[in-house]
Amino acid sequence: MVKICCIGAGYVGGPTMAVIAVKCPAIEVVVVDISKPRIDAWNSDTLPIYEPGLDEVVKACRGKNLFFSTDVEKHVAEADIIFVSVNTPTKTRGLGAGKAADLTYWESAARMIADVSKSDKIVVEKSTVPVKTAEAIEKILTHNSKGINYQILSNPEFLAEGTAIDDLFKPDRVLIGGRETPEGRKAVQALKEVYANWVPEENIITTNLWSAELSKLAANAFLAQRISSVNAMSALCEATGANVSEVSYAIGKDSRIGPKFLNASVGFGGSCFQKDILNLVIKINDYQKSRFVNRVVSSMFNTVSGKKVAVLGFAFKKDTGDTRETPAIDVCKGLLGDKAQVSIYDPQVTEDQIQRDLAMNKFDWDHPMHLQPTSPSSVKQVSVVWDAYEATKGAHAVCILTEWNEFKELDYQKIFNNMQKPAFVFDGRNVVNADKLREIGFIVYSIGKPL
Ligand code: NAD
Ligand code: UGA
Repeated sequence: MVKICCIGAGYVGGPTMAVIAVKCPAIEVVVVDISKPRIDAWNSDTLPIYEPGLDEVVKACRGKNLFFSTDVEKHVAEADIIFVSVNTPTKTRGLGAGKAADLTYWESAARMIADVSKSDKIVVEKSTVPVKTAEAIEKILTHNSKGINYQILSNPEFLAEGTAIDDLFKPDRVLIGGRETPEGRKAVQALKEVYANWVPEENIITTNLWSAELSKLAANAFLAQRISSVNAMSALCEATGANVSEVSYAIGKDSRIGPKFLNASVGFGGSCFQKDILNLVIKINDYQKSRFVNRVVSSMFNTVSGKKVAVLGFAFKKDTGDTRETPAIDVCKGLLGDKAQVSIYDPQVTEDQIQRDLAMNKFDWDHPMHLQPTSPSSVKQVSVVWDAYEATKGAHAVCILTEWNEFKELDYQKIFNNMQKPAFVFDGRNVVNADKLREIGFIVYSIGKPL
């Protein structure tokens, strides 16, 4: 039986390994992590992350050929293939702070592998890493190798949160990079055979190590650029009376451009785009978020001081509870800076998480142990409630920051009746029917659309 061990039981390690286990009953998969609460949650009925379809996949194979453990060294020592899926945040201090990837977690995982291994290993980079990381990892592994043969592969992950299980079941492609030596090719083939259990062969691309590492960064850069391009258009639309949905549809009909990933928004969020593409398109994304706050404040007669503003949605996108880099943090901080009373509702994000996010300095989220509230007083201006009606009761304005389906179905007449007048809606995701809301009496601002 092939044994796989994955270091890092996060948003990537957990779902990816669960899908390998469910699709490959002949492979034993153990996911290990240094975080005991995370592993305990993976072994409980309440998994540590929310992802549609994940519960079913985990239930189908946990305890059979899928295991979660904190006994990192034991399972690494026993494995034939080791995936490393630890976090690779942006450096917060030192050389390259705010730009370069912090590979501390990766390096400590690699040193541990070198320490405990007694047999040959295939070590797979699953985390998103800078190009040439494999070379550095090779050096660490072989430095004191006791004659053990290590093959490093790059197998970047392209799943998106909220659709992780679908993406893993039917990936557009699986990418495997390896050394162009006989041993390297053999390792690539071994990993290819794992994926071939459910992914058609033509969708498994094999390349050299550096192409695989770079392709992951390039894909995120292209995707983020696309959103920033459409968001830049949204500013032009607002200024000219053009409608960004009509523009997206019209340009998306060009088969060279294509229709996907052209939804204007309050700005992209998530743990990866920003860190993977720092400085490429971040300026436009930051501009989009501050533009949104400016619009709220300027439309409400240039002051939100003391006014209740309801925020619907805090996660960085729908169908996930993940708040890393969510535009809601910057928007809420902007509103709080102008002394608004912010009342927040998100169906999947806890009060605790929201309060922590709003108390954090930029770049702190990957280092929660260094938590230091930026401004404790501002947190008192925030209330977190478990219902959109409660959030909007008595509010002057509603800001929709995540495109949860339930926000389309709300009883907006009831919301309007319970709000201060004039009642404003700032739709940061273009999810509501603006015309209908205007009929009720709301003043509606959408992204990239005329008033
Ligand atoms: P995450 O923070 O959710 O999970 C990482 C886990 O690794 C944590 O649970 C942490 O405790 C654990 N860890 C850190 N060091 C460890 C060590 N030495 N030994 C054992 N466990 C250790 O991160 P994530 O979102 O799963 O991302 C992981 C990587 O995958 C990143 O490089 C990211 O860029 C990349 N990625 C993420 C996504 C996504 O949608 N989140 C998609 C594609 C690629
Ligand atoms: C993204 C990529 O889509 C994945 O392929 C990649 O594996 C992953 O980053 C990663 O490397 O971590 P993810 O961040 O989970 O996945 O989610 P996306 O669906 O890409 O959304 C990112 C952000 O862009 C969200 O805030 C979303 O609301 C926003 N977005 C997306 C838009 O504003 N407009 C769009 O048209 C699409």
